[in-house]
Amino acid sequence: MKRKNCLLFFVLSVLSTWATESDIRRVIELEDEWKFINRDVREGAAIDLDDSDWEVMSIPHDWAIIKPFDMNMDMQRTQVIEDGETKALLRTGRTGALNAFGVGWYRKKIIVSEQDRGKKIFVEFDGAMSLAKVYLNGNFIGEWPYGYTSFTFELTDKIKFGSENILSVRLENLPESSRYYTGAGLYRGVRLVILNPVHVAHWGTFVTTPVVSVDKAIVDVRTNVCVRTKQKGKIKLVTEILDQEGKKVAKAISTSHQADSIFYHQKLQMKSPHLWSVSSPYLYSVLSKVFVDGKMADCYLTTMGIRSIDFDTNKGFLLNGQPFKLKGVCLHHDLGPIGAAVNVAALKRQLRLLKEMGSNAIRTSHNPPSREFLQLTDSMGFVVQVEAFDEWKVAKNLNGYHLYFDEWAEKDLRAMIRRDRNHPSVIMWSIGNEVREQKMPEGKEIAKFLTDVCHQEDATRPTTSGFNYHMDAIRNGLADEVDVVGLNYKPHDYAKLHAKYPQYKLYGSETVSTWSSRGIYKFPVQETSSSWYDDYQLSSYDLEHARWSCTPDIELAQQEHCDFIMGEFVWTGFDYLGEPTPYNEATPARSSYFGIFDLAGMKKDRFYLYQSVWSDEKVLHLLPHWDWEDRLGQVVPVHCYTNYPKVELFVNGVSQGIRERNNSTVYDRYRLRWNDVIYAPGEIKAVALDVNNNVVAEKIVRTSGTPYKIKMKADRDIMLADGKDLIYVTVEVQDKAGNLCPRSSCMLFFTVSGSGKLKAICNGDPTDQTSFASNYMRTFNGKMVVIIQSTKEEGDIELSVIGGKLKGDSITVRTKR
Ligand code: GAL
Repeated sequence: MKRKNCLLFFVLSVLSTWATESDIRRVIELEDEWKFINRDVREGAAIDLDDSDWEVMSIPHDWAIIKPFDMNMDMQRTQVIEDGETKALLRTGRTGALNAFGVGWYRKKIIVSEQDRGKKIFVEFDGAMSLAKVYLNGNFIGEWPYGYTSFTFELTDKIKFGSENILSVRLENLPESSRYYTGAGLYRGVRLVILNPVHVAHWGTFVTTPVVSVDKAIVDVRTNVCVRTKQKGKIKLVTEILDQEGKKVAKAISTSHQADSIFYHQKLQMKSPHLWSVSSPYLYSVLSKVFVDGKMADCYLTTMGIRSIDFDTNKGFLLNGQPFKLKGVCLHHDLGPIGAAVNVAALKRQLRLLKEMGSNAIRTSHNPPSREFLQLTDSMGFVVQVEAFDEWKVAKNLNGYHLYFDEWAEKDLRAMIRRDRNHPSVIMWSIGNEVREQKMPEGKEIAKFLTDVCHQEDATRPTTSGFNYHMDAIRNGLADEVDVVGLNYKPHDYAKLHAKYPQYKLYGSETVSTWSSRGIYKFPVQETSSSWYDDYQLSSYDLEHARWSCTPDIELAQQEHCDFIMGEFVWTGFDYLGEPTPYNEATPARSSYFGIFDLAGMKKDRFYLYQSVWSDEKVLHLLPHWDWEDRLGQVVPVHCYTNYPKVELFVNGVSQGIRERNNSTVYDRYRLRWNDVIYAPGEIKAVALDVNNNVVAEKIVRTSGTPYKIKMKADRDIMLADGKDLIYVTVEVQDKAGNLCPRSSCMLFFTVSGSGKLKAICNGDPTDQTSFASNYMRTFNGKMVVIIQSTKEEGDIELSVIGGKLKGDSITVRTKR
């Protein structure tokens, strides 16, 4: 990060030596002082509208996330054929039980100075949820229905230079428009871009690396320069590549005579390049400097990495020529209790946790991600499959994307790829997830059309699609129209498909869908796909899964068995808002159970299973907790996720035997199990042994005493005073000795003072109806997470918690500029 700042400083100083700020590109983030109202206002766009009673707020903003839960919200009578339903059911909580529906208006005053007359003025939206209609000074500027793709409009003709302008945006979310929570509002960035008439076009560079080796790389740079002036002049493009220290490592100069649009194509050679990889995500900066008659008119920065990607029918995916198994997760875009509004600190935390688990890949199911997300995957080292659509022309949702497909699919796809094709982390474009056209002969034609569009925009990355009806997708030709065939939930077919269709490049685009509630264990312990419990929770023994899916162990075994399979994307990394399967019908559940992490980002047991297989960390994790007053003298099976070869288990000092990892069943391969342990309070201890029976690690889980105190732990103690940064505080209810009370449900109350505010609280319980914006909530199995956001004032933030007779706690966090 330090290095990046240093580079940014360098780039800015380079720019200032060439030109004064107003001479070249100016980018003004429109973050603060927006006015907002959550209803339709017929004259919302009118310049003289009295908006004095509108809320003053900042963006990114998700208007729904702070609202109360309401199980009537977006209740739908729907038949989900993908879930095998034979008739329509009344679905509750499907989109998160939050009011993200109806109309919202945003207005902002903008002033562009008189000196900027003659410049070209644009407004860029990273995403607006949804059906955006944009106005300037009451004049309609343009519209963009899909909430997930980025778009730009030119304002030059309508702007009043030197005086106040009103930018207004009308957004509307229709009911039954999605299968999961969308969020609502200006939930991604908006900015004003002020350019000289001669400038690099919007998303106007395309940087690829056709030759990559440790000795040499060729960087191919295509630059589209717009010439929006009649004045004649000699136009020159100077392209420079800078390394992370800001050192110039390659340069190309091209000149050209005037035309409306100039397409430059340059090839730059580099010696001994730093290759981009997930363990060493080295980034270079490409500076595109445009000169008119020797005077700099624009300078545009593209970040890129030097890496090669290959997809092989037998060897799988190769990064820089080396086989690379995708240890991936699917992620929805919502950030749990803070909703869909993009936040870098929240994204970073998710990625840090996934890295810790050993994950190296992400599928942005089922929609294009934020810019910030891909900047982080570039710099933190993940490969990414960017997905465009969850629906084509055949509806999955009454008011879903099918309403816009004909008119907008091509525009959305081009926007997605043009914005994101310079990210080294992006390795594939998915044209759709489980589209219903798999079952139709017409599906082939649409798949071909979308793949062609992708290839026109970027011939360096393959297209793919997640097929759940894989045999239909093959029969109807869709599988032949994508470059890489994604299989949703088909581990048992990998080998068969490879033998029968050796031409396909295969991977598990969506796998596992095991469901669990953090800290909940159900008895008897059994593998099942028809879980239903009266408390609307699910077991964390990780043996319960959807009817169409399987346990993690089964998929992991197939992944290891089949070298030709490129890897998998587990459904899902984090729990998300909406889709509370299997409690879809008339229940209090409003968020998913599929995550490896709960909605608050706390680790479920499954984290350790993946960590033991995917990472190089030594793992020794025991489950369940050991508080079973209600099971005295009864069997409580003990499982251990570990990558040590063998483990001996003790209950109150009495050995329960040694278990060794072996291949007799998939479960013996990935977890050690003591299925006949009789519960007695006290402690369970796992002792890990090496092959020579030396003790190499130990892990103890104790029965807790009476809940006595509250303990808080922040994930950092210093944060940025920028009004955006977040600190996540894990809160535990503990006994006097400091053991977690793993079944406690205690109401806790929080206060925050100083230079921060309480952003959200979340306990990870998918059925909890307390608003995320509340200052109180019950712990779920002894834990919850409190999220604190900085203000722009530097100083200390104090967070205090009390709860009934429990001993309270407080912590202080410092904020700095
Ligand atoms: C898949 C679908 C996902 C999610 C998942 C749950 O079929 O693509 O969006 O619904 O099932 O198991």
